[in-house]
Amino acid sequence: MTDVQSYSGPNRVFSGIQPTGNLHLGNYLGALKKFVDLQAAGWTGIYCVVDLHAITQPHDPALLPDQTRQIAAAMLACGLDPDQSTVFVQSAVPAHAELAWIFNCVARMGWLEKMTQFKDKGGENSERVSVGLFDYPVLQAADILAYRATHVPVGEDQQQHLELSRNIAARFNQQYDAPGFFPEPEALIEGPGARIMSLKDGSKKMSKSDPSDLSRINLVDDRDTIARKIKKAKTDLLGDLPETEDGLEGRPEVENLVGIYSAFSGQSVEAVLAEFGGAGFGTFKPALAELAISHLAPITERMRAYMADPAEIDRALQKGAEKAHAISAPVIKEVRDVIGFWKS
Ligand code: AMP
Ligand code: TRP
Repeated sequence: MTDVQSYSGPNRVFSGIQPTGNLHLGNYLGALKKFVDLQAAGWTGIYCVVDLHAITQPHDPALLPDQTRQIAAAMLACGLDPDQSTVFVQSAVPAHAELAWIFNCVARMGWLEKMTQFKDKGGENSERVSVGLFDYPVLQAADILAYRATHVPVGEDQQQHLELSRNIAARFNQQYDAPGFFPEPEALIEGPGARIMSLKDGSKKMSKSDPSDLSRINLVDDRDTIARKIKKAKTDLLGDLPETEDGLEGRPEVENLVGIYSAFSGQSVEAVLAEFGGAGFGTFKPALAELAISHLAPITERMRAYMADPAEIDRALQKGAEKAHAISAPVIKEVRDVIGFWKS
């Protein structure tokens, strides 16, 4: 593909989180923490609460406004600054739905049929799920490309959706003979937080839909709950922590706990094992709990303070929507020209 080379716009980060249920440690280490680190490194970032995505599956209209505010509160509480970054709600900006329709006419059925998330969520009921659930990744491509975002921080589970966004960008550019019109956005996945596993089963990712609350640490958990969940986290009968990374093989639960320590501390896995190798879980788990609490407790407190002042969240979101609209509206205008739509 030559389109990446011929795209000459600025670097810009975009990411989204659905307002469905509690945020957990996987969302924090896989996504939110990266957003804040990128902001600190000076990247222009656009962060979206993706409520259009949330209605692809059954939802409760009475709860959605507060669920939306809760994700915004988490973004702000983690340190996204509404002056430096753009924090907003997807349905407040028309570009997303408009571009999604256009991309529906660019993406191919065969591409979407390969998406594993749709297969997982649709399960055996694939005939009965909404068309929106099937189309979900096309809307995701529209989210990113309405801002001509070049980089997308996400957890590993989003890799396939990002690949689809790249294909849609390339296909649009080719179909409309507009080389470099859209960038092919790159996923920013690497790092120890990319795939946080369940605390109860090292083969399953930490997820809001796991029926066991002990499987995850929620961002709203208090200190005691975090400590208790880490204490109860599954380990194995081998006992001590290994001295080197090789020793983690075949020990997924232990690997996950060491990975979480590494993600919080910013140390490599090797460095964590250099410190704790040979120690038992009676030593490691309390150290991990203390580290997790020292990072999460201030965020939880700030989140609670935001949730107690919804007007403050709404002001930030209003400002974010205006900024997002100002960036995306000219892109949509150019898209309309390229496609040949009537100009009023
Ligand atoms: P979602 O809650 O599904 O909208 O996910 C929001 C973000 O969190 C996405 O970037 C996901 O890739 C990321 N994420 C979700 N679960 C995990 C996990 N267990 N480990 C790492 N990242 C995750
Ligand atoms: N699909 C993502 C998830 O489930 C959420 C999302 C929607 C997103 N639009 C996006 C992520 C755009 C990155 C960029 O986690």
